[in-house]
Amino acid sequence: MAATKEPDSLDSKFYKPADAFFPAYNNIGLTFDDVTLATLYSEVLPHETQLDTSLAEGLHLNIPIISSDMDTVTESRMAIAMALNGGLGLIHYNMAERDQLSEVSRVKNHVHGLIQDPIKTAPDQLIGDVLNLIEKKHFAFSTFPVVDGQGKLMGLLPGHVVKVRYAKRKVAEALTPRDQVQTINKKELGRDPIAKADKFFTDHPGIHKLLVVDDQDRLHGLFTMSDVERITLERNAQFKPARDANFRLLCGAAVSATRNAFGELDRERILAHVGALVERGLDVVAVSTAHGHSRGVGDMVRVLRDAFPKLPILAGNVTSAAGVEFLADAGANAIKVGQGPGSICTTRIVAGVGIPQLTALYVTSRVGQKKRVAIIADGGITKSGDIVKSLTLASAVICGGLFAGCPEAPGEVMEFSGKRYKQYRGMGSFSAMKAGSAARYGHTSDPNRKVAPEGVEALKEVTGSIDRVLAQLIGGIQSGMGYLGAPNLVQLREKARYIRVSPAGQREAAPHDVVELKAGT
Ligand code: XMP
Repeated sequence: MAATKEPDSLDSKFYKPADAFFPAYNNIGLTFDDVTLATLYSEVLPHETQLDTSLAEGLHLNIPIISSDMDTVTESRMAIAMALNGGLGLIHYNMAERDQLSEVSRVKNHVHGLIQDPIKTAPDQLIGDVLNLIEKKHFAFSTFPVVDGQGKLMGLLPGHVVKVRYAKRKVAEALTPRDQVQTINKKELGRDPIAKADKFFTDHPGIHKLLVVDDQDRLHGLFTMSDVERITLERNAQFKPARDANFRLLCGAAVSATRNAFGELDRERILAHVGALVERGLDVVAVSTAHGHSRGVGDMVRVLRDAFPKLPILAGNVTSAAGVEFLADAGANAIKVGQGPGSICTTRIVAGVGIPQLTALYVTSRVGQKKRVAIIADGGITKSGDIVKSLTLASAVICGGLFAGCPEAPGEVMEFSGKRYKQYRGMGSFSAMKAGSAARYGHTSDPNRKVAPEGVEALKEVTGSIDRVLAQLIGGIQSGMGYLGAPNLVQLREKARYIRVSPAGQREAAPHDVVELKAGT
């Protein structure tokens, strides 16, 4: 077929594979907008493309997207949402070690569709109190389990009695008593609790709530039929949740290179903490620093590799071939690449160092192949096209700013001039370093020492849920793969052909000469 033949011709003179293109620009740092990808003959429809990626033995994602280990991006809520979409969240370390353990446990114990801590009422509360609570918290539901002081199930307060006319009555007078409430023992949930709940609702027409209890009849959760139906529908979705061998959601966590009073790596403390994370089911540990090609980071990776031979280790950040080689030799499985591309980073301004991201990805990816470590593009991604370009060289991307405005990111919503924002700050910003991340930038958190921040404190406009943001990004990646005729990420890497873009070409790439009514992204 003429259409599929590799053209010897004109195309190949202009649109070059990575190993011809990047070395030709070895005297200039290139980033996403400096380059575009050539389209190729395709028989691949975007929705047929596969996005799964492997970062280490036992660490497989169904989409190549990771949420950044930053204190305004990833805690358990974000990590759960990322894993449910097939990706991964890295829980940040700007919190007490025991809090990080609980955050990881929350992700690993998450049962999709089971409301693990439902809002409850007590038998001696007034229905009027319940009505006030609904109004104050804007609850969209009005049925509540009723428990006593020990958490024991007393019954269910059905929505049809939560009415102003009954405001003066006690919950105890209006509840459906315990012996008429449908329950399941949590021991009976098995490996697939949703399937169990789904069957229950089919077998019990008219029942819309199923409560989960333990042997002492204490309440442990609640299934609602509408949630279960939504999830059962989602199961047919193309990208499945990212799970471990025990069907639990994947979860990563970042750790810092903690030092003791003598300035040495605090081996004992690090091993105790990572050991506790592993006990809770942690799937990957990230040694996250601004300068991964340094003695301390190498030592830290070696200490972890020796103590946990099977635990996938993600380490960084580097931008050089030597840096990748160094971390791979120390025992890392995947290397984070990016110094200064992040939307809140000022490393290049403050320290005068760092490499534009596409050049850094090319250089590191070539050693990554040799050393059999995965390369992860970290920072600077503002649109799905940047992800497609990253994935021509890397196995996955890490995003911070793109997710910081989502409801799943930590932090409160603020309102200015009618617009809603959430805080987004660099882990090298002054306030984040004071909260604990100073070691990442080679400083101490001592408030009396002067430190040079390498990140800013900023705001992100509130966006839709992570599901919606990811759906947009995935749609873009799949389009890119369709244009290149690449059914999977391996072929995307093989097929990519690049060309440099002029400043006029960059202007041409964005909407121009129109009055934009609705942002396209
Ligand atoms: P985006 O562009 O997704 O970047 O917002 C997120 C990535 O930026 C890195 N990071 C920093 N880099 N100073 C830096 O130079 C900082 O204060 C800082 N905080 C985060 C990090 O790699 C993250 O994933």
